Amino acid sequence: MLYKNATLATLDGNSPYGLVEKGAIWVKDDGVIGWVGEQKALPAELAKEEAIDLDGRLITPGLIDCHTHIVFGGNRAREFELRLQGASYEEIAKAGGGIVSTVTATRAASEDALLENALTRIDSLLAEGVTCIEIKSGYGLDLETELKMLRVARRIADERPVRIRTSFLGAHALPAEFKSRADHYIDEICIPTLHAAHKQGLVDAVDGFCENIAFSKEQIGRVFNAAKALGIPVKLHAEQLSRQGGTALAASYGALSVDHVEYAIAEDVMAMAKAGSVAVLLPGAFYALKETQKPPVDLFRAHTVPMALATDCNPGSSPVHSLLLIMNMGCTLFGLTPEEALRATTLHAAKALGLEKTGKLMKDWQGDLAIWDVRDPAELSYRIGFNPLFMRHFGGH
Ligand code: NIG
Ligand code: FE
Repeated sequence: MLYKNATLATLDGNSPYGLVEKGAIWVKDDGVIGWVGEQKALPAELAKEEAIDLDGRLITPGLIDCHTHIVFGGNRAREFELRLQGASYEEIAKAGGGIVSTVTATRAASEDALLENALTRIDSLLAEGVTCIEIKSGYGLDLETELKMLRVARRIADERPVRIRTSFLGAHALPAEFKSRADHYIDEICIPTLHAAHKQGLVDAVDGFCENIAFSKEQIGRVFNAAKALGIPVKLHAEQLSRQGGTALAASYGALSVDHVEYAIAEDVMAMAKAGSVAVLLPGAFYALKETQKPPVDLFRAHTVPMALATDCNPGSSPVHSLLLIMNMGCTLFGLTPEEALRATTLHAAKALGLEKTGKLMKDWQGDLAIWDVRDPAELSYRIGFNPLFMRHFGGH
């Protein structure tokens, strides 16, 4: 497919957005970019091919939502009401609500029902030009339900034109049946379930939640050792509600990403820089939990730690179904520039998932595209509650 007369935010080179005006891009039948650049430089044999004239509209790499919990049962509207009345996220979790209440609903749901339910949320993301979504398990917390969630996540790619990456998040919360026995849960359920899920080819990465309402560094370290032995990359929810030292732990395992990181300090950021980990910022959870501690964006810049942004779509801390809104929040709440916000949902999100040659418009890179009815890429972060997607190009189609 050849697109002509486009504005290209290639994200390549040193100019802002790697912008090319009056550009053209050719995506080959195998879904890989065959040619991209200024239209006047288009090789003669391509120039005579049939093309879509975009009349100056903007093309970006397809957006990537690199942190979601989008497969789950039930909802937490009641918890939302409780939080509005003053209960904190931690208090609700400690009283058996929060993640554990979603676990009950997810265990009870059939595989088909979970899929149908997730697809409604997936469709909101796809409508905004998202072409790749990471999905975590972690609302099963038993062998059967963790595997069910991962299978549902993978089935989404059969139902919709989207790439799916799955992360095993067995160390998300302690299920009620293991109350006060977190070590037993890790050894008897979490790690054996990871082995089973890996054996079935369902795991692209291993994640955890290092927090005083979840698991300690030591417990997460045991899960990461199991991941390492299986050759699976790791990532971590760390320093979200308090500073526990999960960031340094994750960095010591060469984590693809460390996520949330509101409470990270300079030494955490330096450890991430050394490990090459991406900082995945989740302003939806920051907003919904009325957090006031902002992630150390200036330190990430100073140490050139790439920043990604994601919806964290989940029923509790971030019931967010719009990656464009997250780009706006990244700018408004965390002080990212619109250019940083676009890199954060394309190139850096790809890096957070360990995807190669994805997230830039370059020859031989992956050719998933979002085509927008705007001319200036800053417009993607600027509006709130407005979707300027013109069309989406996925794979070889
Ligand atoms: O990323 N922090 C832990 N996990 C999710 C919350 C999940 C939930 O509340 O259901 C998060 O914010
Ligand atoms: Fe999360």
